Amino acid sequence: MSKAKLNVVVAACNNMGIGINGKLPWRLKQDMAFFKKITSSTNDPERKNVVIMGKNTWLSIPAKFRPLSGRVNIVLSTTLTEVHVPKDVYLAKTFEDAMNLVDSMESTIEEIFVIGGASVYNAAMFGSYPCRIYLSRVLDDFKCDTFLPEIDEKVFTKITNPSSVPVNEFEDNGTKFHIVVYEKYFN
Ligand SMILES: NC(=O)c1ccc[n+]([C@@H]2O[C@H](COP(=O)([O-])OP(=O)(O)OC[C@H]3O[C@@H](n4cnc5c(N)ncnc54)[C@H](OP(=O)(O)O)[C@@H]3O)[C@@H](O)[C@H]2O)c1
Repeated sequence: MSKAKLNVVVAACNNMGIGINGKLPWRLKQDMAFFKKITSSTNDPERKNVVIMGKNTWLSIPAKFRPLSGRVNIVLSTTLTEVHVPKDVYLAKTFEDAMNLVDSMESTIEEIFVIGGASVYNAAMFGSYPCRIYLSRVLDDFKCDTFLPEIDEKVFTKITNPSSVPVNEFEDNGTKFHIVVYEKYFN
C-alpha cells in the first residue's frame, strides 16, 4: 500500500438517504454486484483490500455473508469485543485505530474501502486522508433514517469514471441508478 487513500462506496437516493431500520431501503442486485467487484478486485493477487465499517453496518449484513469474503473486515465499535465477531474480523475503537491497523498490515493490503454507515462516511470524507467516493445515485425517493453527509463540491471534484466503473444507467426492480465518482485530492 502506498500513502493511505480512502475509497468510500455508498448508494444514496434522492434525499441522500442510505438506510432505514438498520437495513438498505432498496434491493438493487446490480449495485450489490458492483459493490462486491469494486471492493474485492486487486491488481496484485497476493494482496487484499480492506473494508472498514461501523457496527450497525456489520450487523446489517446477513450472517451467512459476513465477514465479507476475500476482503479484510474491520469493524468500528466501542462496545463489541472479540467474542462477538468471528476470529478473522478485526475490531477498532476509533477510525484512527482502524487506519493504524491497516498500516500494520501494509504489505498485504492494496486498497481501503469505507463502506458505512453515516459516521464512518463522515470520518472518511471530512478526515485528512485523500478520499475517493463511488456514489451509486439511486434515482428515486425512499423513506430513510440514515443519510450520507453532503458531498461538498468545493472539496470533492466529480471525475470521469475510471474504467472499472460502468457509466451506464442501471435498472433493478423498477429503480434506476447510475454511478458517479468524486475525488478529494487535498484536505
Ligand atoms: N446505502 C449504503 O450504501 C449503505 C452502506 C452502509 C450502511 N447502510 C445503512 O446504514 C445503516 C447503518 O448505518 P449507521 O450510520 O446507523 O451505523 P454504522 O456507522 O454502521 O454503525 C454505528 C456504530 O458503529 C460504531 N462506530 C461508528 N463510527 C465509529 C468510530 N469512529 N469509532 C468507533 N466506533 C464507531 C459505533 O458502535 P458502538 O456503539 O459499538 O460504539 C456506532 O454506534 C443501515 O441502515 C445500513 O443498511 C447503507
